Amino acid sequence: MITQVSKIFTDNLDGKEVSLQGWVHRTRSSGNMVFAVLRDASGLIQVTIKKDKVDEKSWSGATSAYVESSLSIKGIVKKDERAPGGYEIQATHYELISQGEAFPISKDLSEEFLLDVRHLWMRSQKLTHIMKARHHIVNYLREFFDNDGFYEMAPPIITKSGCEGGSTLFEMNYFGEPAYLTQSSQMYAEVFIFSLGKVYVLAPSFRAEKSRTIRHLAEYWHLEPEMAFYDQKMNMEVQENMIAYVCKKMVENHSDLLRACGRNPEDLAKITVPFERIDYAKAVDMVNELGGKMEHGQDFGADEEALLTKTKTKPIFIHNFPKDIKAFYMREDPNKPGTVLNADLLAPAGHGEIIGGSERIWQYDDLIARMKEQNLKIEDYQWYVDLRKFGSVPHSGFGLGIERLVKWMLNLDHIRDTIPFPRTINRCYP
Ligand code: 4AD
Repeated sequence: MITQVSKIFTDNLDGKEVSLQGWVHRTRSSGNMVFAVLRDASGLIQVTIKKDKVDEKSWSGATSAYVESSLSIKGIVKKDERAPGGYEIQATHYELISQGEAFPISKDLSEEFLLDVRHLWMRSQKLTHIMKARHHIVNYLREFFDNDGFYEMAPPIITKSGCEGGSTLFEMNYFGEPAYLTQSSQMYAEVFIFSLGKVYVLAPSFRAEKSRTIRHLAEYWHLEPEMAFYDQKMNMEVQENMIAYVCKKMVENHSDLLRACGRNPEDLAKITVPFERIDYAKAVDMVNELGGKMEHGQDFGADEEALLTKTKTKPIFIHNFPKDIKAFYMREDPNKPGTVLNADLLAPAGHGEIIGGSERIWQYDDLIARMKEQNLKIEDYQWYVDLRKFGSVPHSGFGLGIERLVKWMLNLDHIRDTIPFPRTINRCYP
């Protein structure tokens, strides 16, 4: 039976013989001893191989292994204060499964090189920790919606029209006809509120972002809930409850992993509801007071969002943006004409926007009028407009960028390490 490395630190195995399988994380030899660190999916363990304690084949395997050679070992678990984690394995048998070649990644290589060999760099401890944390974060998001009676729906990725404006559409040739990679599954999520009430989609969205920034990807994972009979107030409550739930679960069950990624779990333990709500107009004034320069009617960029969130310890909502700078489907606020019933949720400490959401225009005539104002071709959106003809109801929803959430929750400097193979303006390989 194969023992997982993590069990050596949790189960009382001192003095017992175990079999392990994994990869060489580090190895060095000195005289008649080899000191190796074995890695499996659950962690790292120090292994010592003494020439006089193993057969010749084991010794030759241990002395010829490279970093990342795969191996299988047998040995005795020994408590040893000097070993990382307090235990090591004294090998009795060491077998190389595949010696392979010298691993091309060593210390202090440039970020660009590491992106070129991303398929190998994925084995690093840093990315392993982040990918595990991402897995748990996504699971808790799903759990949150499942607990609340939402259904997950599968949207199309190839579409005929944009949801968020033409400038960031990726066009493709669909059997001789133009089509696009989806920018957002929102319009398709809206289809399902009529049969399922509360739904969400978790799928990739694509944006032909021409700029290189620390928070934009050309392909990202987008969580998009949509709820029948929810107004914007209820929509924001879902968002803050969802974020608080995921933070709480990560702190309760994965604080070591958070620490390994560079996030102090105490920061996330503070993320409780409610989140502050700031009107757009007030937020613009705040930016200017904090030393930024922006006019009313402009959208916030990364710099303005950084100013607004720099000293915050919890996410903040900015709501009621001017309708002219927002997407066509957002409902105008009857109590504040000229602004829409929307909100962006900005993560604290400079991370900035992680969610965009709104109440939708749900009445046929209003939607047509708004689309005409924005010079959109109604026929391109005929099926979407149709939804307003047959038993339409008030409804709301939002879009959460998974990588933006992970970047903030794990306190990472750049979005690229939140996703295995980041797609950006200058990279689509490996
Ligand atoms: O604000 P956005 O563009 O809103 C929509 O797409 C709506 N249709 C969502 C909805 O209401 N269902 O994008 C929503 C979120 C942003 O807040 C951000 O987290 C993420 O998607 N996002 C990106 N993440 C990484 N790279 C990019 N280029 C992103 N663009 C948006």
